[in-house]
Amino acid sequence: MPKIPRIKILLVLLVVFSCVCSSINGAVSYDDKAIIINGRRRILMSGSIHYPRSTPQMWPDLIKKAKDGGLDVIQTYVFWNGHEPSPGKYNFEGRYDLVKFIKTVQEAGLYVNLRIGPYVCAEWNFGGFPVWLKYVPGMSFRTDNGPFKSAMQRFTEKIVSMMKSEELFEPQGGPIILSQIENEYGPVEWDIGAPGKAYTKWAAQMADGLKTGVPWIMCKQEEAPDPMVVQLIIHIIDTCNGFYCEKFTPNKPYKPKMFTELWTGWFTEFGGAIPTRPVEDIAYSVLRFIQNNGSFVNYYMYHGGTNFGRTAGGLFITTSYDYDAPIDEYGLLNEPKWGHLRDLHTAIKLVEPVLVSSYPTVTYPGKNQEIHVFLPKNGDCAAFLSNYDPQFSAKMTFGNSQYDLPPWSISILQDCKKEVFNTAKVNAPSTQRKMTSVGSFSWQSYNEEAPSSDSSDTLSMEGLYEQLNVTRDESDYLWYLTEVYISPNEQFLKNGQFPVLTVMSAGHALHVFINNQLSGTVWGSLKNPKLTFNGNVKLRAGANKISMLSVSVGLANVGTHFETYNVGILGPISLTGLNEGTRDLTKQQWSYKVGLKGESLSLHTLDGSSSVEWLQGSLVAQKQPLTWYKTTFNAPDGNEPLALDMNGMGKGQMWVNGEAIGRHWAGNKARGNCGKCSYTGIYNENKCNRYCGDPSQRWYHVPRSWLRPTGNFLVVFEELGGNPDWITLVKRS
Ligand code: GAL
Repeated sequence: MPKIPRIKILLVLLVVFSCVCSSINGAVSYDDKAIIINGRRRILMSGSIHYPRSTPQMWPDLIKKAKDGGLDVIQTYVFWNGHEPSPGKYNFEGRYDLVKFIKTVQEAGLYVNLRIGPYVCAEWNFGGFPVWLKYVPGMSFRTDNGPFKSAMQRFTEKIVSMMKSEELFEPQGGPIILSQIENEYGPVEWDIGAPGKAYTKWAAQMADGLKTGVPWIMCKQEEAPDPMVVQLIIHIIDTCNGFYCEKFTPNKPYKPKMFTELWTGWFTEFGGAIPTRPVEDIAYSVLRFIQNNGSFVNYYMYHGGTNFGRTAGGLFITTSYDYDAPIDEYGLLNEPKWGHLRDLHTAIKLVEPVLVSSYPTVTYPGKNQEIHVFLPKNGDCAAFLSNYDPQFSAKMTFGNSQYDLPPWSISILQDCKKEVFNTAKVNAPSTQRKMTSVGSFSWQSYNEEAPSSDSSDTLSMEGLYEQLNVTRDESDYLWYLTEVYISPNEQFLKNGQFPVLTVMSAGHALHVFINNQLSGTVWGSLKNPKLTFNGNVKLRAGANKISMLSVSVGLANVGTHFETYNVGILGPISLTGLNEGTRDLTKQQWSYKVGLKGESLSLHTLDGSSSVEWLQGSLVAQKQPLTWYKTTFNAPDGNEPLALDMNGMGKGQMWVNGEAIGRHWAGNKARGNCGKCSYTGIYNENKCNRYCGDPSQRWYHVPRSWLRPTGNFLVVFEELGGNPDWITLVKRS
């Protein structure tokens, strides 16, 4: 008999020992079939609910609805910039009370998939990174960079140790069965090569070293490494995100096939239409995945919620993050989506024991047809009949029976006989959303003027500053102020052909004021945030004040080198049509003022608002740019969710009782194609758009829990000049 080296014996003993321990502790492990919890393989249905996108008062109901909808797991990202708004100063309160959220899930008897990231993407400001990170010396984001890795490690450790001390990992008796490090890093790695590979390896080892007792996942990460040879229990599982994932296979044969983001709809951008995704196609995507040996499906999003305040990121993302998810932004069931998926989950559970204990055998009875049969040794049986034809229904014979399959649909046969579900036969009721007005407001107004460049809180220098560098994202707003002198001899003063001001900006919106009069507004879009202002400007002889308010609309959330992202006016800026031809203003003296006067006075709070004089009654400003409006109102009876109907307003922000509701921009109408939508055929986010020509977002969620019965203080800031009399409070039902 060959001699076995001692180290090998030790390794084997270690593995055996840890296996025994893990099953005693109820540890989470996996094999090629599925995630194994307490020794039991599971088909897990999961749904994303991001805790800061709703209020703690909404959490129990959302989670209950998720449970009633047949989910086993709630998935959430962890939002670094919400938790560490300035270096070392942490916030785990209110909507950022992560422990409370996880415990709420636990109380409902569901598991948690915690995606620590800490890069999250997620249409969240700066992809979840705190903006101060950009200014740490030597910082280079999401690559093999010392300052970045140490900041990422510090935050990841902070979260993991918080979860451990609250005993929230499954082996400790908690609900967390999976964690995630990074997010969709694979494509970046291909892009940047060696430093990307080194970073991936480091991230996997760092995460693995934290010994959470549950597996880590890395989504869209084909080369997710298995960091430690000795630690055979915990590997990093690579997973799939997309509209469909049936063709995905994990990078090692011993890993389960997991679908961590099945997009239930899509996000909305200001200027875009509202994407929807038919539930028949979502159910079809789920079953194509599961019949091909998939065992974990997460709906991204199950409840999208609201990007309150200035948390919306990626550029031009709306305040609503409804996502056409099964539970709508307001916490109401989006039917028939919720109900049809609940029926799907019930059917999957009926065949779960069969699915986790056998591999499918596939046959091809006809064109666009497949049959997947699961036949474990114990004699049980489950089958999936598929008709992939996008146009024609099919009659399929299986066993001794015939089954009708609508186009683009899959049926589950319990015991290989009884059809318990078909993806295209929807029995759940449909609902229509209704917004009923329950009151209008009586406003007072305060007009904000362009600041003067010599006031104490402006900063002066030659040339143009990048916006974020100055604001550090403390505000969306940065004033760029300068003066131009016009000689009385200028021709244009006589012929009335005013010179053209050209301003190039990295984004995202720009209001140009000449001598305090609005001269024009321009904005970019998600695809092209850069903008150029090009307009005739009414200059007069002598000194002229040029005041430009540059406005950011959420910071980019996708990509790698976040340290290179720019916002604001980078130039050039020129004036053409003068006697001298063109005058370049780029390098002259500019003054900068961060934020609005109303922001520094905290006009959004009751206390702050008393510091200025407000106009009332017939004097209330209408269609005036840069106007603050305030009012008080009583909460309507009942418990239906509430919203502000902002149709008639332009662009700005809103607060109620000091809480930031978000950015409003009903003035940005939905472009694009809103044609017919069929559930059949391959889906993409442009396929089933709705509400073209309407505001991309008209209604803005006002959480009930932010209101008291009477005397609620509502403030709206308007940049463009809307009509506040049109604003109403509506009930959603
Ligand atoms: C994914 C990303 C998510 C989210 C989604 C689109 O690629 O991982 O965080 O951004 O796209 O909604």
